[in-house]
Amino acid sequence: MPRNGLPSLLVILAAFTSWATTTEGHNITAILEKFPEYSVYNSYMTQTKVADEVNSRETVTCLVLPNAAMSTVAAKHSLATIKNALRILVLLDYYDPPKLHDIPQGTTLTTTLYQTTGNAPGNQGFINITNMRGGKVAFGPAAPGSRLASDYIKSVQQIPYNIYVLEISAPIVFPGLLDAPSVADANLTALLEKAGCKTFASPITTTGMLKNFQTAMDKGLTLFVPNDVAFKAQGVPDLSSISSGELVTLLEYHALLSYTPKDSLKSADHAMATKASGASGKFDLTVSA
Ligand SMILES: *[C@@H]1O[C@H](CO)[C@@H](O)[C@H](O)[C@H]1NC(C)=O
Ligand SMILES: *[C@@H]1O[C@H](CO)[C@@H](O)[C@H](O)[C@H]1NC(C)=O
Ligand SMILES: *[C@@H]1O[C@H](CO)[C@@H](O)[C@H](O)[C@H]1NC(C)=O
Repeated sequence: MPRNGLPSLLVILAAFTSWATTTEGHNITAILEKFPEYSVYNSYMTQTKVADEVNSRETVTCLVLPNAAMSTVAAKHSLATIKNALRILVLLDYYDPPKLHDIPQGTTLTTTLYQTTGNAPGNQGFINITNMRGGKVAFGPAAPGSRLASDYIKSVQQIPYNIYVLEISAPIVFPGLLDAPSVADANLTALLEKAGCKTFASPITTTGMLKNFQTAMDKGLTLFVPNDVAFKAQGVPDLSSISSGELVTLLEYHALLSYTPKDSLKSADHAMATKASGASGKFDLTVSA
């Protein structure tokens, strides 16, 4: 009966339309590809997956560093650290030139992607934008008395009220921003236990998979870990009653051999091979957003 069928068709279309607008809004990688002078920054945006975070936001301003300045930051630091350095350069608001040059009282603090990590105490995840004498715009850390050592250089690209990309002269750094813990110091089982995932952590040690995962972490690893409560649910197999070989497969099926944080999962529209995939078969995982 078409009269009854119509409403549900409309719902599907509406859902599809809003999905299409948010995902096709902007692609920072594609925008920057046209500018070889920012290729180093663009490459690190992809490697650290900050590009996926930028693309998942509806309104952003990206402060882009030219190759020489970005190479200097990257040379001395790990990817985890570079990720922090990039996230502080993504403002969660649309600051085009008219807005940048006409800030009420000439100075403001604005929030960045770094603030969304939960690792930024107080207002550390904010940056200070100030109108200087002579029409110059300067950026710096939010902490009172910070030097505003980064200048607005030029406009790169704008898609009004969606994304604005501009070049700045120098990175914005405050003490502690570039001290991300290195992967060598990460204790996977301790991390899982602290997160309430003891049940899953235990067979990682007993099967010897720990060494395997720890090695994989150097190149990037994503684990999907059910918490202890989830293992108590009805119908979930008792891990102590399955063979060691099956345990290994189960653990591997919960791992991707790449660093794939939440916003990257959201934009993954294909089946992903888990660590369990290999000679014995294909064990893919599909994510739906
Ligand atoms: C963004 O653009 C890059 C480079 O053109 C492309 O490889 C990538 O698939 C695009 N991402 C999305 C989500 O469309
Ligand atoms: C921004 O930094 C300058 C220089 O340290 C300072 O004078 C100004 O008060 C700061 N602005 C805000 C809103 O904190
Ligand atoms: C990692 O943490 C676990 C559990 O907290 C502990 O038993 C183990 O000794 C730690 N390993 C290292 C190398 O520190």
